[in-house]
Amino acid sequence: MSSPPRVLLVDDEARTLDLLARALTREGFEIELAASARAATSALKRFKFEAVVTDVFFEGSSDGDEILRAARELQPDAAVVLMTGQPALEGAVQAIKGGAYDYLQKPVDPVLLSAKLQRALRERNLDRQGLGFGELVEILSGMVANTIERIDPYTAGHGERTRRYCDMLAERCGVDAATRQKLELAAIAHDYGKVFLDDLGFLTKAGPLTPAEYLAVQRHPTLGAEKLGHHTRLKEVCQWIAEHHERWDGTGYPARKRGKEISLPGRVLGVVEVFDSLATKRSYKDAWGLQKVLDFFETQREQAFDPDVLDQFLPLLAANGEAWMARPQFDRSQRGATKPLDPTVP
Ligand SMILES: [Fe+2]
Repeated sequence: MSSPPRVLLVDDEARTLDLLARALTREGFEIELAASARAATSALKRFKFEAVVTDVFFEGSSDGDEILRAARELQPDAAVVLMTGQPALEGAVQAIKGGAYDYLQKPVDPVLLSAKLQRALRERNLDRQGLGFGELVEILSGMVANTIERIDPYTAGHGERTRRYCDMLAERCGVDAATRQKLELAAIAHDYGKVFLDDLGFLTKAGPLTPAEYLAVQRHPTLGAEKLGHHTRLKEVCQWIAEHHERWDGTGYPARKRGKEISLPGRVLGVVEVFDSLATKRSYKDAWGLQKVLDFFETQREQAFDPDVLDQFLPLLAANGEAWMARPQFDRSQRGATKPLDPTVP
């Protein structure tokens, strides 16, 4: 059974403290008492509280403000309810602006206070059950991958595989877990910009592109970065998408970045997505064998690819390449587009 929610009750009037403490204890709360701002701050430093209920005025001084600030700083998840004998709307507005959950006039009805606390805890629990960034990446990844595969069925699974290999390679390159999580989304969405090209027909045509078609397709990294959205948490994701066709020697597109002007996640993505493109059948080519792929990467060392990233990728390829290439075209509908990938399964 979970422990009762702990509430810090602060007032310099012993009668009020006693009345409210008894009522809230009956309602299932565990109560800690404090009679001053100093005692309240000390308790906030020692114990974890789900809520703080505090008087605003202590013998003429507005110590409640100080307690509110301390609670916001020390325990930002705790709901703070202020109590005052001064019926001033202005004070209520200030309290809410200062981060208080609610504001009650004295004398406080214990039943009303208990109801407010219960509601605050319910709302906070709902907040905690909200979608995390990882879950949003899963959902968005499935949507974006389905959209890309709709216009270019030859790339079915390319995003998912790129995502998995990218995560493994990025980890070997020392990229931290939070950045790798964002990189998963960039890996899935790197070709998203193709959806917005004026002519989609040549994406699935057999044979090489004409110069005009090649120029048109070069717009897709920038288009993808623009169209994925402008949320602040997607800023790096968009940058890596924009970089996925840049080359180490500066001859890539669209910005002709060279060397470490291209971010590390962008360089990782560039290596991995080329590998998967070579290893699988496309409208314009058959799947390459592992040795041909390995030879290609060697010839492109310091041309297309960062040699340090290649040094991390080639052992990964030597260990997993045969298995990856034996069954690279998995069926998204069977696997489930939004299931998390298991990096231990090649
Ligand atoms: Fe691309």
